[in-house]
Amino acid sequence: MDLVLTDLHVATMAGPGYGVIEDGAIVAGGGSAGDRRIRWIGPRSGLPGDGAVETRSLGGRWVTPALIDCHTHLVFAGDRSGEFEQRLGGATYEEIARAGGGILSTVRATREASADELYAAALPRVQALSAEGVGTIEIKSGYGLDVESELKMLSVARRLGEATAVTVRTSLLAAHAIPPEYERDPDAYVDLICDELMPEVAAGKLADAVDAYCESIAFSAEQVSRLFERAADLGLPVRLHADQLSDGGGAALAARFGALSADHLEYTSPGGVRAMADSGVVGVLLPGAFVTLGETQSPPIDAMRERGVPIAIATDCNPGTSPICSLRSAMMLAARVFGLTPEECLAGTTREAARALGLDDRGTLEAGKRADVAVWDVGHPRELAYWFGTPQLAELILDGQTTAF
Ligand code: NIG
Ligand code: FE
Repeated sequence: MDLVLTDLHVATMAGPGYGVIEDGAIVAGGGSAGDRRIRWIGPRSGLPGDGAVETRSLGGRWVTPALIDCHTHLVFAGDRSGEFEQRLGGATYEEIARAGGGILSTVRATREASADELYAAALPRVQALSAEGVGTIEIKSGYGLDVESELKMLSVARRLGEATAVTVRTSLLAAHAIPPEYERDPDAYVDLICDELMPEVAAGKLADAVDAYCESIAFSAEQVSRLFERAADLGLPVRLHADQLSDGGGAALAARFGALSADHLEYTSPGGVRAMADSGVVGVLLPGAFVTLGETQSPPIDAMRERGVPIAIATDCNPGTSPICSLRSAMMLAARVFGLTPEECLAGTTREAARALGLDDRGTLEAGKRADVAVWDVGHPRELAYWFGTPQLAELILDGQTTAF
């Protein structure tokens, strides 16, 4: 049966601006479970009156596309709040990483944890995101750094998608840090990823994309190129942690491989921005990591706007640099710290985030898109990038069905 939503205002995010439809209506349905679509959307006065329908009045509330968190590391074990204390005392992220802390500290804990333990720890993080209207979450591996533990992380991420109404998209981030076993021969680890891990992940359809961390404390552009060539052989799209702590030419590298996205971008050069624009790479901004690390150099937002680089915003939820399970908070930080408009923040967590994941079936409210709708107790959609830590979600409809959160 079709579901008809009326007595609402819509921010379709299909443009121009918020794509506002005042006093609108949405007809959802048509399609099988897992693929229920918006059949019609427009002003209530034009509502088609055919068919068996369940009509719901939303009491004049605002609706938007369900939000999309397109960059998280939310499957992990362990705790790194002590590193935050160290950094507040003057230590840098690089110093802590080079001393064996940082990502490798989470790797030790994640390797030791069972799949069930990882799942139990990650589920509340997924629930916290969906309680704020998030319907699609990307989850990376990258705290296993050996074949077995990377597969364990990806399976846990897949299980989170199966057990909840949220869509989970996974990325293989085996090239996140050099594992201790390969400290003296990082290239051999890159071989392991290319020759063993990636083919197994592709065969088991455990990852929707391949990601890597291109940075002086992680992998070189040459090593990332090898990984991305292999990903292309296996038909897996790529994305990149680029230019977070230094300009390593990551944005241009991502562009050269036609990556879905380049993420972080604090040190990206004008040439990198141009390359992204020419290749249609989405720039994913991660203000939670920027603030938590006490960074001072902002991503080149003005250049991105001038060149028309699509801008997405994500939590980067992870235990070391972005302890945030709140996409609304990331939106507010992107506005306050990076100077994005509230409209850019909402586009960055809907339309552009969908693009960063290579998903063309969601991110806007239009006929033919998935029936993933967030219903808000707000007076205007700009409030979504203003209030944070404040419950304003009235209802989350995913795949045409009301979802508990
Ligand atoms: O996106 N930059 C590298 N990766 C993560 C940090 C992960 C960690 O420190 O555990 C990030 O910020
Ligand atoms: Fe990240």
